[in-house]
Amino acid sequence: MATRVGVVAAVLAILCLTLAGPASALDREKLLSEPGVYATFAVFKVDEDWWKLDKAARASTAAEVKAVFQKHGDHVITDTYLLRGLSERADFFVRVHSTEMLHNQNFLVDLMGTGLGKYLANTSTFNGLTKKANYVPALSDDLKAALKTPLDPGPKPYAIVVPIRKDAAWWHASQDERNAMMKEHTDASIAYLKTVKRKLYHASGLDDLDFITYFETAKLDDFNNLIIALERVQENRHNKQFGYPTLLGTIRPLEEILDILTR
Ligand code: HEM
Repeated sequence: MATRVGVVAAVLAILCLTLAGPASALDREKLLSEPGVYATFAVFKVDEDWWKLDKAARASTAAEVKAVFQKHGDHVITDTYLLRGLSERADFFVRVHSTEMLHNQNFLVDLMGTGLGKYLANTSTFNGLTKKANYVPALSDDLKAALKTPLDPGPKPYAIVVPIRKDAAWWHASQDERNAMMKEHTDASIAYLKTVKRKLYHASGLDDLDFITYFETAKLDDFNNLIIALERVQENRHNKQFGYPTLLGTIRPLEEILDILTR
């Protein structure tokens, strides 16, 4: 009897693991890699009055903030970044992904409604979506293969976000002309694939931008050289806005950011 109960418990445990554990990990993986996913980058600065509250009052809001992240966990995946110390304009930002922009909005409205949220100024927000590659199909097989260069293993503590707007001439250029410029862009940047992880969001019509570019790296010197290399290609002449603001932060778990804000 005891053995039968044990077997049933083990089967149930395996079922739970299969249904809950790996499935949610898979969703995150999917949302971070597939086209058709909506992303919002919400940047916040903590008001001066926040620091005048006593420590206990600040600490009591941490649980409330965590509960909001948990409540929306079925609809959005979130990543948190610390800007404080590296920026005078903002303290942290949240990157939110989901299959509906509405989910991003609902999460952020709840976050802004918390005790901490009432002391937050939302200094910038960028909205975009992921799409299938436009130019990769026209690249040579060699360049396509080179784009599969694996990222060096190891932690990548820094995240950089660069919002970009193209000029009218870019959008008026023919597909062939843009293919040629994006080939040059790829040639100039391919050497950095090992140390710079990248993600592209399309923002035309959803924001006053055309693209939100997002990067993770451990080597800010490589990232600096990458940008200089890209500033030298033709395609850069069509960047009407590059940055403004550029966000440079460190990837930190929510708990760590809350700890810094409540300590
Ligand atoms: C690791 C280095 C990089 C590589 C290998 C790379 C490669 C590429 C490739 C292959 C595309 C075409 C995607 C498609 O087919 O739709 C692309 C698009 C783009 N890249 Fe990069 N890139 C790199 C870094 C950067 C950086 C640092 C920026 C700017 C901060 C940037 C800005 C863009 C933009 C705005 C597009 C979209 C262009 C468009 O669709 O009109 N890239 N990149």
